[in-house]
Amino acid sequence: AGSFIKVPKKKYKGPGTTANLKSIIIGRCYHYMSLYPAIGMKDCSRIWQELTEAVFRKDPCNITEEDYKKLGEVAAQTIPCDKSLLWSRTNQLVHRYTKATEDFMTLEDTFLGFLFNGLTWCGKPVTPGMNYNSCPAWNECSNNSLLSFWKIASAMFAQTSCGIVNVMLNGSADGAIARKESILRTVEIPRMNPDKVSEVRLWVIDDIHGQDKNSCNSESLLELQQYIEEHNLNYSCIDNYKPVQALQCVENPDHHACNQCS
Ligand code: APR
Repeated sequence: AGSFIKVPKKKYKGPGTTANLKSIIIGRCYHYMSLYPAIGMKDCSRIWQELTEAVFRKDPCNITEEDYKKLGEVAAQTIPCDKSLLWSRTNQLVHRYTKATEDFMTLEDTFLGFLFNGLTWCGKPVTPGMNYNSCPAWNECSNNSLLSFWKIASAMFAQTSCGIVNVMLNGSADGAIARKESILRTVEIPRMNPDKVSEVRLWVIDDIHGQDKNSCNSESLLELQQYIEEHNLNYSCIDNYKPVQALQCVENPDHHACNQCS
């Protein structure tokens, strides 16, 4: 006779809801308030409650931006002008950069982004109401619980940004500088308010060991410039913005690009 080990079947392609999600979110909420007292008092258990309202017992492929509206409202924050830093395909570098300087903030440095960054969550119609086994991956279905959340969080960030809005892009990545389906392109650029945003300033950063596939005068950048201008926003572009290059040089001090005399 053989013994059978029951392995739960994964319904979706992505990892399941993060273990201890509630404690992590509530802990991060108090942590953020202690790091940035300027945010004022936020109701941390209310934030957990609104997340639950949005997804609990629901089909994770049928969650819209609208479902997160209340959560967005309770976590609302004013972003100082000239501080917003958007990005595409520079996830690691951009966050190393905002850790090193307090001059800029990415979505993941705002309250809402900080609370949920790197976590996974999704509901399921049957008990226990959350799926700890698997959740839809980023593009598995269009109205999935993670994608809809990051879309509305990005929309709110872009909408409340003012002054110069900076964008860190990857000059060494293959293909378009900002993918057609990227959040930057589909959500953030269209949501910026031309009356409040004086300029969209792109920083095209090459990987220090990588190739220079795109720079401010590449076709892909000119196309993005046109797209930005079609949204009535002013555009500017900087190749290998020095403060970011200095950060790359911390780990590669002998690279020729890091020689002050070059
Ligand atoms: N599969 C899995 N994860 C994905 C996928 C995918 N197909 N596409 C995007 N992601 C996740 C990854 O975690 C990735 O690091 O989204 C992140 C950002 O994707 P990018 O293509 O690098 O950039 P973009 O879509 O423009 O999103 C970044 O959106 O949230 C805002 O303010 C933020 O400006 C920033 C922008």
